Amino acid sequence: NELYLQGYGGAKPPFSTDATKLEDSAAQVLEPEAFSYVAGGAGSGATMHANREAFDRWKLVPRMLTDATERELATTVLGTPMPAPVLLAPIGVQSIVHPDAESATARAAAALGVPMVMSTASSTSIEDVAQASGDGPRWFQLYWPSDSDVCGSILARARAAGFSTLVVTLDTWTLGWRPCDLDAGYLPFLRGLGMAVAFSDPAFRQLLEKPPEEDTPTAVLRWISMITGTDRDWSALPLLREHWDGPIVLKGIQHVDDARRAVDAGMDGIVVSNHGGRQVDGAAASLEVLPEIATAVGDRIEVLFDSGVRTGADVLKALALGAKAVLLGRPYVYGLAHGGEDGVRHVLRSVLADLDLTMALSGHRRLADLTAAALRRA
Ligand code: FNR
Repeated sequence: NELYLQGYGGAKPPFSTDATKLEDSAAQVLEPEAFSYVAGGAGSGATMHANREAFDRWKLVPRMLTDATERELATTVLGTPMPAPVLLAPIGVQSIVHPDAESATARAAAALGVPMVMSTASSTSIEDVAQASGDGPRWFQLYWPSDSDVCGSILARARAAGFSTLVVTLDTWTLGWRPCDLDAGYLPFLRGLGMAVAFSDPAFRQLLEKPPEEDTPTAVLRWISMITGTDRDWSALPLLREHWDGPIVLKGIQHVDDARRAVDAGMDGIVVSNHGGRQVDGAAASLEVLPEIATAVGDRIEVLFDSGVRTGADVLKALALGAKAVLLGRPYVYGLAHGGEDGVRHVLRSVLADLDLTMALSGHRRLADLTAAALRRA
């Protein structure tokens, strides 16, 4: 409301409140390779664009005289209370867009009580993100190392640092085909960026002949080989329970049968996600597959959603199609690029305010009111 009143009162915000404009202007403030790395998708970009087009195909149908003057946006997901059904998606190597990186993101998220999902590929260590986060809610995203000691050590650190829920990303067991980055010869990890979690881990360091400070390339390759190309299948999931006593969520689910398997495997949640279109070019839009998955799993598992969320209306649509909450990806990174902690906070406040107003004007007082009846397919 503050942003709204200020804006219509004539005060201009420091950065645009429009996520698309922020992306355009991020191209001006970032190094070209860093911008392409964040903004790019796999292959031709077909899936990344499809993610947006899928949102455009659903339209809200507003209701009148519903007494939506006071909205209730707060919710609880897997024991984590949040002011609105929005979390920050795990995004690695934030140091390529701003020197304050994940610490700035953590402070901004904590200031608003929005949960941050910290990436394994962060440029900041687990303990430092936790410190920046203070009392803020925090989840930890895992790129699952094949070495069980290293996996156990990282997860024990995350647990000790107050991360409550584990998000295991399944769709990135090898990196997608990304022509922008290939053409630019740019992969931040090969430059030793985004390695803070691994390089600060005692169990990982023990495996190395020389510490990463003395031989970064070898340490990076050792880490990459540990988190890629593994031959795991669904039977490996119970191993995670040995290292994590909190809720576990599988990220990257797109097929309805995989969603069912996640339920059968006793998982607590899934993130219906195609990694923002960065992995399988030509894959279905994430929003396209959401309704069938939500219907198939019912309330046996928490269904979260990401890939393409940019506005308050997008959040509403994903919720109406069966998600309990959404993860916001690239937009907050553009906020970080423009203004560090303030930039992330600005983006988050804008999305939350937009969501609140869109709820109000479309006549929904409670999140539970959001069903497919709120939408029409164009
Ligand atoms: C990501 N994503 C991601 N996911 C993950 O599980 N671990 C990670 O380290 C990263 N890193 C990462 C870096 C960058 C630059 C981007 C853009 C994305 C995927 C992320 O969590 C999320 O699924 C998508 O960003 C959602 O799509 P939108 O909102 O960006 O369209």
